[in-house]
Amino acid sequence: MIVGQIVGGKFSELLLRVKSSFDLELGELLIAEVSPSQHILFEVTDLFYGSQLSAQHLELISGFSLENDQHTDFLEPELRNYTLAKIKNVLTITQGVPSAPKQVPPFFGMVRKLKESDVPFLSKHSMTFGLLRSGSEEFSVPVTLDATKVFTHHLLITGTTGKGKSVLMKNVLWHAATQSSLSLLVFDPHNEYYPSPGLIDYPDHSKVSCYSTNDALPGINTLRFHTSVLRPEHFDIVGFSSPQQQLLFTYYKRYGADWIVKLFTEETKDFHEASLAVVRRRMRLLLDVDNKLNFDGIFVTSGGENTLASLRQDVLAGKIIIIDTSSFSGKEELLLATLITSSLYTYYRKNKATPKPTLNIVLEEAPRVLGKDVLDQGGNVFSTIAREGRKFSMSLTAITQLPSLIPKDILANMNTKIILGMEMAAERNVIVEAAPFDLRDATKAIASLDKGEAILCSNFAKFAIPLHVPFFDKELPTLKKAVRTSSLSFHELKE
Ligand SMILES: Nc1ncnc2c1ncn2[C@@H]1O[C@H](COP(=O)(O)OP(=O)(O)O)[C@@H](O)[C@H]1O
Ligand SMILES: [Mg+2]
Repeated sequence: MIVGQIVGGKFSELLLRVKSSFDLELGELLIAEVSPSQHILFEVTDLFYGSQLSAQHLELISGFSLENDQHTDFLEPELRNYTLAKIKNVLTITQGVPSAPKQVPPFFGMVRKLKESDVPFLSKHSMTFGLLRSGSEEFSVPVTLDATKVFTHHLLITGTTGKGKSVLMKNVLWHAATQSSLSLLVFDPHNEYYPSPGLIDYPDHSKVSCYSTNDALPGINTLRFHTSVLRPEHFDIVGFSSPQQQLLFTYYKRYGADWIVKLFTEETKDFHEASLAVVRRRMRLLLDVDNKLNFDGIFVTSGGENTLASLRQDVLAGKIIIIDTSSFSGKEELLLATLITSSLYTYYRKNKATPKPTLNIVLEEAPRVLGKDVLDQGGNVFSTIAREGRKFSMSLTAITQLPSLIPKDILANMNTKIILGMEMAAERNVIVEAAPFDLRDATKAIASLDKGEAILCSNFAKFAIPLHVPFFDKELPTLKKAVRTSSLSFHELKE
């Protein structure tokens, strides 16, 4: 199916005359067959009109039909007026193997539509991120990357609210569950990843685990911690002033594991009465402690001693772990996330040499902990992981609609970025600048990405791959069947 012929341009931007019977779309993928073994993959970056008639003639002809109601026919209209497309050299494919493009196709070369069989290399890695998209057309070609490579580095998922970040993340979690030696731990403020349709539907229950204060659903672990697991430094993230932090440290030094309870019951001469009162009030709110010293929140004085250990076991078993934080305030959630993540980070750092699953921490609204303003006031365990987690097989997935709030060096270190629709030009520019590929002429395309359309940019891919994100809720039966069949064939193989 020839769609056009190359009629000019230069390496970075070739000009295609489009055959009249075809309507090309922005972002559509095309192929030029240089030889039977060598193909070039292009992407349409712009579309405009061409004509053999001068602009003045065209305007005059238009005048006849607009002003005089005269119907004007062109002689051989498809030869005289046509569409031109700017196409970008994306990839050279030599006997099915992709490499960066270095040559232009022959002048006057014919260009055809992409076929599924053109891109077998897209599907040969371990983990699926979506399906190949060409313009707005979806192909049944799974787009895969090497899960180990992707998750030993950081991942960014960005797009305007409502463009499908959560739906994409559900797909990612599902496919991550099929991976051995990979654990993803998700803080889920909207309780949207576990309940059906969600990870609860994953056929192999040993791969998924959920912690929540609401244990109505099957398979849920109670989210509750003994107060003795808390450390003063966990409270940095909720914005205590430094004298207040000192006060916390003093109690911790003096009373050890009992420090939280003693903070409410024991007086101190080292600090002003008023300061102690303020700290107590803040801690009461944060930990949900009433006037009679009842601990009504997730932090309790009896029970909950084993929750951190149980979480660690799940991580070491390579599970997908979802922490439902939907019933907490923002600050409670940050405290909880800091507690869990610090505990795992300490474990991973201490046991650096022991083989363990790669652990990726998934954060919604990531600028809350990775934002420039937060980091200016001192780092936290998340920024530490962002900067040096890789040494210890730990990484982050940052989900945000405002990537501009994340410092440039951290953004640049997010080696895989999945970009969904983004209307705001300032946010788009930040992403385009930090992308591993030249996306400058994709900025318009990013603005007009629809729900379920994305661009996968990764240091572990050969080009910025247009992605179709399946609608998880609808695709669930198919997804379940795929897991069942693959585990079946796995068992059959073993037999
Ligand atoms: N891949 C998709 N296919 C079809 N519809 C989608 C897709 N992704 C999102 N949607 C629709 O858009 C809504 C919002 O998506 P969501 O993932 O919650 O967005 P975000 O997390 O970016 O705010 C979904 O409830 C769904 O109706
Ligand atoms: Mg969301």
